[in-house]
Amino acid sequence: MSGRRFDVAPGGQLRGSLGVPGDKSVSHRAIMFAALAEGTSRITGFLESADCLATLTAFEAMGVAHHLDGDIRVIEGRGLHGLMRPDAALDLGNSGTSMRLLCGIMAGQAFDSTLTGDASLSRRPMQRVIEPLSRMGAAIASADGGRAPLHISGGHRLSATEYAAPVASAQIKSCVLLAGLYAHGTTQVHEPGVSRDHTERMLVGFGVNVERQGRSVSVAGGQRLVATDVSVPADLSSAAFFLVGAAISPGSDLVLEAVGINPTRRGVIDVLQAMQADIRLDNEREAAGEPVADIHIRGGGLQAADIGGDLVALAIDECPALFIAAACAQGTTRVTGAGELRVKECDRLAVMAEGLRTLGVDCQETEDGIVIHGRPTGAAFTGGAIASHEDHRIAMAFAMAALRANAPISIDDCDYVATSFPNFVALAEEAGLQIQVAEGAG
Ligand code: S3P
Repeated sequence: MSGRRFDVAPGGQLRGSLGVPGDKSVSHRAIMFAALAEGTSRITGFLESADCLATLTAFEAMGVAHHLDGDIRVIEGRGLHGLMRPDAALDLGNSGTSMRLLCGIMAGQAFDSTLTGDASLSRRPMQRVIEPLSRMGAAIASADGGRAPLHISGGHRLSATEYAAPVASAQIKSCVLLAGLYAHGTTQVHEPGVSRDHTERMLVGFGVNVERQGRSVSVAGGQRLVATDVSVPADLSSAAFFLVGAAISPGSDLVLEAVGINPTRRGVIDVLQAMQADIRLDNEREAAGEPVADIHIRGGGLQAADIGGDLVALAIDECPALFIAAACAQGTTRVTGAGELRVKECDRLAVMAEGLRTLGVDCQETEDGIVIHGRPTGAAFTGGAIASHEDHRIAMAFAMAALRANAPISIDDCDYVATSFPNFVALAEEAGLQIQVAEGAG
């Protein structure tokens, strides 16, 4: 995938009421747990993006039947021990969540499997899941440095573990808990900080007993998953681009409908509030175990903020967008404790700093964060050509920067936007961004 370029004209506002697509983290888990459950599950609001379809295709290759009933994804579960040996390697494309969570599931199977991914995924650290799974008795071979492809030998009896994760990561936690379902005894994960808890919430929905205490979670092995219906909320991480776009452009007035505001995900809202954005949550309600709300935001008047500690983990995927907001704020924003950004789809600290500088922003990258000097009035950005480094969130963040630029911004390699937000361009246009796609561009 590469080749499409976004050309975004400067200026404008975002207006109206938008429904962004389903949550990526929740969609992955819905497929995985439905596949491992006994019975038929119906998933409403599933994110039909490249990443989530990579998960679906992997389970299809292991004998899981599925179909569409209108917009609803219907999954015929095969039970915890019903997956079949795939004929070929499972190609997970760009998706870290697919690879890390699947690792935990595949470690518990009777058959061997191989997990592969694209160039970006093959650079990302997998030792963080190989290590705890090996302790549980899994046998996993990797390329140098604990990278994909991963060869997971089946037929190993797993034993429960008590694992203190070195970083707060929902992917590590979920991987170990899923392996724990196949293990003898009770598996416990302790985290050094908060991470998203969709796995814990959704496993409960599938009838699994999950014990939670502070930053520790445990599951007993051998529990059955029972099919259920899942309603996927709109993805706050996708909404974040529109929230930031509206916040930086005075005159904007936008509602994002039925967005997931899970407390372990809502850092972007808290940061925008700390930056004095005019943001309000309406109609707060619960949908299938996840809190949702309509988010109403109006543009203008952003102040710099210090972003560190748990807030970073709670807004980790929204940092690229938040850096754009910081560049438009009054004062200097300091982001600390964000070293995890270096091991996402690209090194997001380095790539955001490079892009911001290309657009004339005064910023300094630090080891675990960035310092951004905002330009609150007039144009915050010059025009320019941005390298997205094949990272969906970099591309979408810089597209929104055009709202406060004084010349066009072009962004390369935007095909990767389809990994999380296939209809981004259509929705952005509908809201008022002047965005064009150049096909087959470099
Ligand atoms: C995710 C967890 C986060 C996040 C990623 C999705 C998940 O990663 O950045 O986009 O669905 O579990 P870490 O768990 O590695 O922090």
